[in-house]
Amino acid sequence: MMLVDSHCHLDFPDLAGDLEGVMALMRENQVTHALCVSVTLEDFPKVLAIAEQYPHIFASVGVHPDYEGVSEPTPATLVQLAQHPKVVAVGETGLDYYRVKGDLEWQRERFRNHIRAARLCGKPLIIHTREAAQDTMRIMREEGADNAGGVMHCFTETWEVAQLALDLGFYISFSGIVTFKNALALKEVAKKVPLERMLIETDSPYLAPAPFRGKMNQPGLVKYVAAEIARLRNRSVDQIAEVTTDNFSRLFKVNKDNLNAIT
Ligand code: NI
Repeated sequence: MMLVDSHCHLDFPDLAGDLEGVMALMRENQVTHALCVSVTLEDFPKVLAIAEQYPHIFASVGVHPDYEGVSEPTPATLVQLAQHPKVVAVGETGLDYYRVKGDLEWQRERFRNHIRAARLCGKPLIIHTREAAQDTMRIMREEGADNAGGVMHCFTETWEVAQLALDLGFYISFSGIVTFKNALALKEVAKKVPLERMLIETDSPYLAPAPFRGKMNQPGLVKYVAAEIARLRNRSVDQIAEVTTDNFSRLFKVNKDNLNAIT
């Protein structure tokens, strides 16, 4: 079995402080790869250093919509940083009307710039959306995000939003939230998303899956997300592992056999 965590933050202090422990649990749980996702340009060098140190860790470049007062990336800057062979995606980017309030035109402009960069460099987008689904989908359409493709990460929206994203060629990624007992609506969405368009992730160090809810999360625990998807879809964990790993490999152009990025 081969599992991939399509979204984690290994550079955040809780995980960065014990990377060897994190790698050990990945090996134990057959999580062979992980994508370490950038949230600011200031922290991008740390993300890249981890991806350079470990052959099975990939990186993205982007500035998360929750971060105000950080360097604002131009498309040209993002494209330039995305040239590194371990950088397989642009993001995470998107809109968040839950955590950030006020006039959020800057957030929408930042999102547009990430989509423009992804189109220019031909790398897929990692999209975060919270209480902003309508504007997120509108901007994706206006900027031609379907030309870059990508993933709706840590998906918590409705089936209708999932369908709009699927129509644009995007993948849908489920996190530990899908294992939570009260996440009934999300479990229904996870029953419907075509398996060949599904990814799994931890979003660690946050959102540890059941039975570790509330504890520190890490990539090795993506196994529990796969197990819940398997249960919901009446498949084996092996089948879910195989299809989501194939999807990861296809979307991010990562050759899973020799652990090298195909660029
Ligand atoms: Ni994230």
